[in-house]
Amino acid sequence: CGIVGYVGHQASLPVLMAGLKRLEYRGYDSAGVAIVDEVGGIHTAKKAGKLQVLADQLTIEALGEGHTGIAHTRWATHGGPTDLNAHPHLADGGKLALIHNGIIENYQALAEALRADGIDCISETDSEVAAHLVAKEYRDTGDLTEALRQSANQLHGAFTLLVTHQDQPGLVVGARRNSPLVVGLGEGENFLASDVSAFVEHTQRAVALGQDQVVTITPEGISVTDFDGNVVHPEEFTVDWDASAAEKGGWSSFMAKEISEQPEAVANTLRSRITPEGHIDIPELAKVVADTQITRVVFIACGTAAYSAMLGAYAMEKWAHIPASVELSHEFRYRDAVIDAHTLVVSVSQSGETMDTLMAVRHAAEAGATTVSICNTQGATIPRESTATLYTHAGPEVAVASTKAFSAQVVATYLLALAFGEARGALSAAERAELAEALLAAPDQMAEMVQTGERIHELAHWMADTHSVLYLGRHVGYPIALEGALKLKELAYIHAEGFAAGELKHGPIALIEPGQIVFVVVPSPRDPRSLHSKVVSNIQEIRARGARVIALAERGDAAVLPFADEVIALPPAHTFVEPLLAVIPLHLFGMELAMAKGLDVDQPRNLAKSVTVE
Ligand code: G6P
Repeated sequence: CGIVGYVGHQASLPVLMAGLKRLEYRGYDSAGVAIVDEVGGIHTAKKAGKLQVLADQLTIEALGEGHTGIAHTRWATHGGPTDLNAHPHLADGGKLALIHNGIIENYQALAEALRADGIDCISETDSEVAAHLVAKEYRDTGDLTEALRQSANQLHGAFTLLVTHQDQPGLVVGARRNSPLVVGLGEGENFLASDVSAFVEHTQRAVALGQDQVVTITPEGISVTDFDGNVVHPEEFTVDWDASAAEKGGWSSFMAKEISEQPEAVANTLRSRITPEGHIDIPELAKVVADTQITRVVFIACGTAAYSAMLGAYAMEKWAHIPASVELSHEFRYRDAVIDAHTLVVSVSQSGETMDTLMAVRHAAEAGATTVSICNTQGATIPRESTATLYTHAGPEVAVASTKAFSAQVVATYLLALAFGEARGALSAAERAELAEALLAAPDQMAEMVQTGERIHELAHWMADTHSVLYLGRHVGYPIALEGALKLKELAYIHAEGFAAGELKHGPIALIEPGQIVFVVVPSPRDPRSLHSKVVSNIQEIRARGARVIALAERGDAAVLPFADEVIALPPAHTFVEPLLAVIPLHLFGMELAMAKGLDVDQPRNLAKSVTVE
């Protein structure tokens, strides 16, 4: 779901539609727009379906060339995805238009109160209530900003709201709680949006609105207050990528582009954070890393981000000797986990807006924990609310299923573990130097893996009819098995499971029947812990039961060859770099299989890029 608002010298309709287009990746099922013109007219259009369905019925003639407007893509929560339930919602006799992202928890009580005043809602949404509420406050105050502020104070839940009124051309007012809203600062024009990608082609200067704040934009400027009306002076930031970074270029999909950008995402995340002497130099983490009170690290995340966190936890224990664990944010939040001032809670979230993770971060902070955010989105809510933030520099990730953000998250968790390892003296200078060298070599080795694309394309085409794929991995290969399986589910809608290879004999081996496809992430034969031979034995066990094995194994690993149907070779790398290499062919496989089935790899069914509801 996405939100865009505009006031300025341009006709607002094309600006708003282009903004919605850029937010399309967030996932939605209907869209709408409201334009206010200078002669006191408000024009709206809204449609269920893709943006194109709305675009097809829009004309400047019908909507006017007004310079003020708001636009919305909706992902249905209360009320199905119909034209009527799409936003904007109108109130005040059709003079006021409102759009909303989030969930208004007390909408039923508010709707009853409105009904008592003779105001009935015509849609099934929680959002329409907010429109009538603002209209009522506006009638009382004659001030749109004040009306929105007073309304916001009556709402419970999560919301970003934008309103515009036909009597107030040149003005859009926004409010937010638990849901993102950023302001784009232009010359003689200003923007509001769920994230900066909606306006970055017009301006890279931005301001992120804080929790419980209201913003009013006019062509000349912006003003921000909190929900009590106190003036706030938010800090401006510059978006460090431009519009071309969020475009497909010559690629067939954002997914294809982003998978191939993984080496760059990792290089950019490492850049300038490791000194030539192998020291970790991350000023933004200095205070947290120096905190000797921290005795335990809990990583929290959802989806793909949680798999990167598993690697982070392995690294934290190995390199910093600090007990570390990983939990899904939504489980952590509600199970009365033991957390205190000695706990460091590290959230990993590409968007920085995932509601489950945000709530878990708040819960941790309330319990006295220090919080670190590993995030890819400047100005997002989770970094704003964390003690410290380590940004990944993967660039904008547009495809719904996460790929390049994953690799960047993995190295960010490694940097955090290394920083603690160095601060606590858990790593010798030689070990640090070796790890630094291994990490800095990773982008080139990952670039080799991107070259497996053609081979994977062939494999995926042979397997296009398959109904189930299993993934096995051990130690650092285990999260990669989980990630490979998730990507196949998300993109190709095929049943897939990832298992720890050691667990095979405790159950999953019963699933193996002739023809079952199994990807196996094989540890390096150089591994001193004999994990290699254990995984090769697993391959023999499943092979004996008819599995078709595709091994991801180090180049020259002769022990695997006799037992694998296919081998995807990885360049020899440090144990902790191996997952960054193995994941690329698995990402490619998910994408290629989906394409072989004719599916939309950028916007898989039922999924949203950032899930801003709990
Ligand atoms: C959604 C996306 C996933 C993503 C997860 C976590 O479910 O579809 O691709 O991994 O959210 O997102 P975050 O922004 O918190 O990393």
